[in-house]
Amino acid sequence: MLDRLAEIEALALEALEKVSDDDELQAWKSQYIGRSAELGKLSKRMREVPAEQRPEVGRRINEVRTALEKGYERREAYLRAASLEKTLREDRIDVTLPGRPASRGRLHPSTQGLREILEIWREMGFQIYRSREVETDQLNFGLLNMPPHHPARDLWDTFYTTEPGVLLRTHTSPGQIHVMRERAPEPIRVILPGMCYRYEQITARSEIQFNQVEGLAVGRNITFADLKGTLTAFARRMFGQEVRTRFRSSHFPFTEPSAEMDIECFLCGGDGCPVCKQTGWLEILGSGMVHPTVLENGGYDPREFSGFAYGMGPERIVMLKHRIEDIRYFWGNDLRFLEQF
Ligand code: PHE
Repeated sequence: MLDRLAEIEALALEALEKVSDDDELQAWKSQYIGRSAELGKLSKRMREVPAEQRPEVGRRINEVRTALEKGYERREAYLRAASLEKTLREDRIDVTLPGRPASRGRLHPSTQGLREILEIWREMGFQIYRSREVETDQLNFGLLNMPPHHPARDLWDTFYTTEPGVLLRTHTSPGQIHVMRERAPEPIRVILPGMCYRYEQITARSEIQFNQVEGLAVGRNITFADLKGTLTAFARRMFGQEVRTRFRSSHFPFTEPSAEMDIECFLCGGDGCPVCKQTGWLEILGSGMVHPTVLENGGYDPREFSGFAYGMGPERIVMLKHRIEDIRYFWGNDLRFLEQF
């Protein structure tokens, strides 16, 4: 029996040296130290061993078991280290390989232009006020001094909803009424940015949707000089301190008097070029003193309060700045255009 034990030990340890992966290791384990291994069976046969040899045999059985278990642990650790080393060697990342550039999103050119404009007005003390894109006829036209059948309504081709009297706003001006009704009789200094819609033939110069930034100041003793000074200050911040501006009289039903502001063409410096159509000037916004009827509709007494308002189109300003020739690029979702900004 002692001889057999020595044989088992030698055989097992020799076989262990050849074990090269985990499956083989588990097979080895069940063959030599598992429940049905010969070693276990030998210990059950102790009864057959002459009594004086029993302590010796028992000790050897334990020694062999310990030796095999230790051997198993050693081999297991060895295999684990070997496989780790192999993965490290074979799956090594080549850090010298140039990376693939991640494609990053960016802000839409309209949003960039809008933010630039809003930032300037913010610095000048104008709060942002958001108002709805779906409006009533009454707010988009009526309360802005354009009763039904007023010819000025023809200036704004309109998308109507199936709900009578509900439409997509054609300009941000109805926001003036919302703010005034919310704030009256407090003084107001706000800007109203947002999308507007017009039912128009889509061409290089006109789209059915576009942003506007409306401005409104209401208070006591606000004059046309304030309008001119404020808008000129804006133009200087937007287009450079040197830029010259001019005001041309105009007409809007909700302002009186009304004026359009031009800036000197920054492409040709006023000499005349295709962008300014040889005039040397670029029109950038409409403005005027808030009409007394509109002040009244907003809840302000026109004998006590006055104010000015203006509306500008960020896309138009972005087009001028970047010499974009076709407004359809803005909502055409063509990456070749969008990626340039
Ligand atoms: N709402 C006018 C437009 O869409 C612009 C404007 C705003 C003019 C405020 C005067 C005062 O053309």
